[in-house]
Amino acid sequence: MSNKPYFDDVADEWDQMRKSFFSEAVREKALATAGVQRGKIAADIGAGTGFITEALVNEGVAVVAIDQSEAMLDAMKKKFVGIQGVDFRLGEAENLPIPGDSVDYAFANMYLHHVEIPLKAIKEMVRILKPGGKLVLTDLDEHDYDFLRTEQHDRWMGFKREDVNRWLTEAGLKAVVVDCADEDCCAQSSCGCDDAVISIFIASGQK
Ligand SMILES: C[S@@+](CC[C@H](N)C(=O)[O-])C[C@H]1O[C@@H](n2cnc3c(N)ncnc32)[C@H](O)[C@@H]1O
Repeated sequence: MSNKPYFDDVADEWDQMRKSFFSEAVREKALATAGVQRGKIAADIGAGTGFITEALVNEGVAVVAIDQSEAMLDAMKKKFVGIQGVDFRLGEAENLPIPGDSVDYAFANMYLHHVEIPLKAIKEMVRILKPGGKLVLTDLDEHDYDFLRTEQHDRWMGFKREDVNRWLTEAGLKAVVVDCADEDCCAQSSCGCDDAVISIFIASGQK
């Protein structure tokens, strides 16, 4: 079942929710892993309200921000009024609205555990990278907090790092590394009876 209605519903609250889940350090580490340079172009996939995009723009990187949810993109557009260098596009994991070989970096934060087929989504992100371009994924390590599936519509209970490594390699990336981000994602179930603390990984590779 699609998780789009869920994200449409929470769009206006997403920034507050996000702050309670994980910190800005996650995006700082993602950008550092890519070694972003001013004047380059990046894609932020599953951009939400622009957590990664905001940091990229501050570094002088132009961004194509893609999300399946119009409501998320609308919330993001409100925040980015007057800010140059962001191209907002409605799009789906399997068919990103970007030509092949066109971006220097592709980022996806807390997106992979929401897609139906992770390998397919990774291959599609690799397709849009220029040769030499870098993919950086930040997402959840494998966990057993079932309430995240029922309450937050997660499709995947995080991932084994060896699976992520294999998918990036199978998608054609070189210099693949999947490492600990030294950050956690924290969430409480609606009954208040379950507290999730899940470690976050950073996966990267070069086309
Ligand atoms: C957990 S939010 C993360 C948003 C943002 N990256 C952040 O870090 O705040 C996941 C986002 O991915 C989007 N998304 C989920 N599945 C998608 C898909 N199949 N295609 C495109 N976007 C998707 C959702 O609409 C949502 O905005």
